Amino acid sequence: MRKVKVGIVGCGKISGIYMENINKFEILELAACADIDRARAEEQAARYGVPAVCTTEEMLQNPDIEIIINLTIPALHASICLAALHAGKHVYVEKPLAITREEGKQVLALAKEKGLLVGSAPETFFGSGIQTALSLIENGAIGKPVGATAFMMSRGHENWHPDPEFYYALGGGPMFDMGPYYLTALVQLLGPIRRIAGMTGKALEQRTITSEKKYGNKISVQVPTHVAGTLEFEQGAIATLIMSFDIFGGSDLPHIEIYGTEGTLRVPDPNGFGGPVLLRRIGEKDWGEQPLLPGYKENTRGIGPADMAYALQSGRPHRASGELAYHVLEAMWAFHDSSDNGAYHEMISRCNRPASLPLDLTLYELDK
Ligand SMILES: NC(=O)c1ccc[n+]([C@@H]2O[C@H](COP(=O)([O-])OP(=O)(O)OC[C@H]3O[C@@H](n4cnc5c(N)ncnc54)[C@H](O)[C@@H]3O)[C@@H](O)[C@H]2O)c1
Repeated sequence: MRKVKVGIVGCGKISGIYMENINKFEILELAACADIDRARAEEQAARYGVPAVCTTEEMLQNPDIEIIINLTIPALHASICLAALHAGKHVYVEKPLAITREEGKQVLALAKEKGLLVGSAPETFFGSGIQTALSLIENGAIGKPVGATAFMMSRGHENWHPDPEFYYALGGGPMFDMGPYYLTALVQLLGPIRRIAGMTGKALEQRTITSEKKYGNKISVQVPTHVAGTLEFEQGAIATLIMSFDIFGGSDLPHIEIYGTEGTLRVPDPNGFGGPVLLRRIGEKDWGEQPLLPGYKENTRGIGPADMAYALQSGRPHRASGELAYHVLEAMWAFHDSSDNGAYHEMISRCNRPASLPLDLTLYELDK
């Protein structure tokens, strides 16, 4: 196994956990970080011991760096991925893969043309929570899955994120922000989606920032903030979904449930790596908490790029793939298109379900 050097572009809020985790994976070495705000890159580099700070251009010219991890805001995901691919780098990008399907397709096409890999968050499905749920479904614990629900009921991000504007601009909104976690988990658990119907709405035209740095600033809401819909999976199951930033009084709806002919599975928050995973089989009054498979229960962001580094050495497929992220991107738009057009969206893209993680691996290794 050869160590693969990676560089991070975008040293904002989410970068810390990547910086903390990357060097825990034997196959990865975090070599440098870059941000348009150099002071921010320097601050994060000092905090997490990143050996070099450079510009994005310098990083792309550095022949030692093989994978670029793109942690910029959604509006820049595609352009920075394309620049990295043009420079001959593999690229792993935070969710969503891109804002538009056209940009997403361009990223996948360029990678294919250049023989490079594209990976994309979320990577939370590598966690013990979703892996355990998957194993229970595959082992018949709920019989044949026939339905599912997925709910992300939130009031938005302007009360905690220092720069929350992007959540209310094109590429933001609850579906593009949180939908990737829920849809990726559903695809992992139930396979690819066949068709989607959606309705969208917006409770507020303007929001007021109450996080510290920009307290009192107004944000004009440019995207739907309440998205509801129905999905039919190729294997026949039908899921009901709500992704919302318009839930001001809170909600107790579960994150994800899968309904089968012999029982119901309650799946943990797909924005985390751990449990609990709960099962209630026909005739049972109470939920039974299921033992989690060994593996990753804590925030292990960075595991997606590590899996990619193994894949590029062995030639096996990587799990958090561009194809999976594109299928999810098409699905996210499908809810909005269906609402605008008053018609089902028949999915065009397909993707393979990512392989489950083998159980006999040492922590922070992804291949034997
Ligand atoms: N914040 C979270 O909790 C969280 C969680 C999971 C995923 N994400 C995803 O991670 C991504 C980043 O989110 P964030 O919250 O860290 O945002 P952020 O605004 O805190 O950080 C983005 C960083 O990108 C930098 N940047 C902007 N333009 C750049 C350019 N041209 N070149 C280099 N750097 C540039 C900014 O200066 C900033 O430091 C988003 O796609 C988001 O959806 C965020």
